[in-house]
This record gives sequence, C-alpha cells and structure tokens, in this order.
Amino acid sequence: MAVNFDVNGQQRRFDGDPQTPLLWVIRDELGLTGTKYGCGIAQCGACTVHVDGQPLRSCSAPIAAIAGRKVTTIEGLASPAAKAVQKAWIALEVVQCGYCQSGQIMSATALLEQKRKPTDTDIDRAMAGNICRCATYQRIRAAIKAASASLA
Ligand code: FES
Ligand code: FES
Repeated sequence: MAVNFDVNGQQRRFDGDPQTPLLWVIRDELGLTGTKYGCGIAQCGACTVHVDGQPLRSCSAPIAAIAGRKVTTIEGLASPAAKAVQKAWIALEVVQCGYCQSGQIMSATALLEQKRKPTDTDIDRAMAGNICRCATYQRIRAAIKAASASLA
C-alpha cells in the first residue's frame, strides 16, 4: 500500500515495505542526506526530523506511521527559530566533526519553536536524547541561549 506524506512542503509517495524506517526513505529514496544514521535504535538523536512540528527519531519510525503527516528535515528548516539557531551555531562555532549536528539543530529548533525563552531545565529535557561524541554540549547550550536572546 502506498504511503503519501509531505516532506519540506512537497507531496511524496512511497510504494515499498510500510515498515521501512522513515530515515531510509528520507536518505535513500529522497536523497536528503543531511539527516544522519547513528545508532538505529532511537538512542542517539542523529536522525532527528520534525513530524508535524515535533522532533522524531526517524530511524525508528516506520513510514506507515507517517502517512498524511508533514515531515521537515534539516534541508527544509526555514522558520525564524531555525534561522536564529543556524546563525548562533555559526557564530559560536558549535560544530566539531559535525555528525550529530543535524539532529542537534533539529531538536534545538523544535524547542525554540515551542518556547522562545526556555529555561535550563527545558534545554536539558529537549536536548537529552541528542548525543555528541565530540562533547560540544557547552557550545550547544550557549548557542541555544544566543538564539533565544535573538528572538523577540
Ligand atoms: S540513528 Fe536514530 S536515534 Fe540514533
Ligand atoms: S560534533 Fe562530532 S559528534 Fe557531535
């Protein structure tokens, strides 16, 4: 059975196995390789995308569960919060190897879209599932605060 869904504002259709993880569809079928594969078991956050505005680990979501929903990947981020996050990430030179950063930015953006002035606890909660092997956590926190401060 075909699955129809929206990715970054475009209607998409997937005709394969409905249990195929969303991440495989995004990367292998649609060629959107900004979303990364890390653990494959919803433990690292590298594969985070937004589904209907909420962060979701795409490695562990079967495409069947995405039918009729709106997916945003790192390539499609365009909200004021997303732009503030991207600007702060560059200004504070957050990235080290970069592998985890797509997921970090997706989680940070979802947080600021929902709450422009998050507390430290909000940040801890929102970012807890995103692992960074390069330990850029301090810069990530500083960049979220800088992005927050730049939003009205
Ligand atoms: S690859 Fe999805 S959470 Fe690690
Ligand atoms: S920047 Fe290298 S894993 Fe996070």
